[in-house]
Amino acid sequence: MEVTNVTEYQAIAKEKLPKMIYDYYASGAEDQWTLEENRNAFARILFRPRILIDVSKIDMTTTILGFKISMPIMIAPTAMQKMAHPEGEYATARAASAAGTIMTLSSWATSSVEEVASTGPGIRFFQLYVYKDRNVVAQLVRRAERAGFKAIALTVDTPRLGRREADIKNRFTLPPYLTLKNFEGLDLGKMDEANDSGLASYVAGQIDRTLSWKDVKWLQTITTMPILVKGVITAEDTRLAIQAGAAGIIVSNHGARQLDYVPATIMALEEVVKAAQGRVPVFLDGGVRRGTDVFKALALGASGIFIGRPVVFSLAAEGEAGVKNVLKMLRDEFELTMALSGCTSLKQITRNHIVTEWDAPLARPAPRL
Ligand code: FNR
Repeated sequence: MEVTNVTEYQAIAKEKLPKMIYDYYASGAEDQWTLEENRNAFARILFRPRILIDVSKIDMTTTILGFKISMPIMIAPTAMQKMAHPEGEYATARAASAAGTIMTLSSWATSSVEEVASTGPGIRFFQLYVYKDRNVVAQLVRRAERAGFKAIALTVDTPRLGRREADIKNRFTLPPYLTLKNFEGLDLGKMDEANDSGLASYVAGQIDRTLSWKDVKWLQTITTMPILVKGVITAEDTRLAIQAGAAGIIVSNHGARQLDYVPATIMALEEVVKAAQGRVPVFLDGGVRRGTDVFKALALGASGIFIGRPVVFSLAAEGEAGVKNVLKMLRDEFELTMALSGCTSLKQITRNHIVTEWDAPLARPAPRL
C-alpha cells in the first residue's frame, strides 16, 4: 500500500509487530480519553487563511536554543526503539540528521548515547529520567554531554508510571535480546518480568518519586546543557519552571500515557505560552499527525513541535526510510498549510490565522431553533 499520510503507518505497524510491542507503543493510560482528545482537539481549531499573498517561496527554517534547523518539527523521546526495528535509535538518528532536525534520545533507549553519537553529525537532545541513585544520573548526564548532546529534556510527569492496561494484560517487559543500553554496566539495563507491567515495576523500583523543583536547580549544577522541562501543562508550573532556570518548556502529557483526563496538549498550550511571557520558548508534543497540526501549534505560540508515535510506527514499517518519510510528509504538509494560509515564514504565522472554541464564536454555526 502506498503511504500518503503519517497516520497510515500505525496500521502497518500493528500488522508487523508482536501484540505486546504494538500495544506498548500505541496505548494511553486507563480510559485513553486523553489519547483520543490529543487528536480530537486539533480538529476543533479552524483556519482563517489569508489570500493573494505571494507564496512562491516559503521558509520553514528556525532556530531552537541557538541551533538552526530546517523546520519546527522535531523528534520526541520514545523508549526502546529496537523493539520496532533492529536499527532502532540508529535509524531515527540518521533520519533526523538527514532531515536537518533534532532527535531527542530517550533515557530508556536500546542504543546508548555514544552509539547514537557514532551515527554521525546531528543536533540531539537527551531525555532524562531521574533515578533514585543520583550518581547514575550524574554519570549519564556527563556521558550525554561528552557525546555531543545539546540539551536535556527533563521529564517531570512520571514520578510513577501511568496505568496502561494493555501492558498489564500483556505482562509487558523488555524482550530478553535487548537492554536499556544507557544503563548496561550499571546493572539497571534489564527489566524483570512482573505479574503486571514490567516497566511499571522498573519505574517503581528505580525512578525517584521525590523529584521536585530543587532538583531542576541541582541538575544545573552538574551540567552546562540547557534544560527543557517536559510535561508542563499549567500556567503555575510554567512560572515555577522558569524560576527554577528552565531554558524552555515542553507542553506534553506524555502522549496520554500518564494521567488520563488531562486536557489535550493543544488545549493547554496557550495558557502556558501566556505564562511564559516570551521569557523561554514553549514547545508542544501530543497527537501531531498533520502539517495543519504543526501550524495550529505555532499559531498558538509554540516555537516547535515534537512527534512520538509516528516515529516508532514508521520505524516498524520501513526502518530509517519510514522515519524519513514521516518527516518529509509532515514537512510537505506544513509547507502547503503555510502557502494556503498566506504565510511565507514562521514569523508570519499569527494567532489571527486560526480560531478556537474559546474565541468569540466566529466559526460555529448558529444553533437551529
Ligand atoms: C513515549 N514518551 C516518552 N517520554 C519520555 O520523556 N521518555 C520516554 O522514554 C518516552 N517513551 C515513550 C514511548 C512511547 C512508545 C511513546 C508513545 C511515548 C512520550 C513522548 O516523548 C511524547 O511525549 C509523546 O509520544 C507525544 O505524543 P505522540 O506524538 O505520540 O502523540
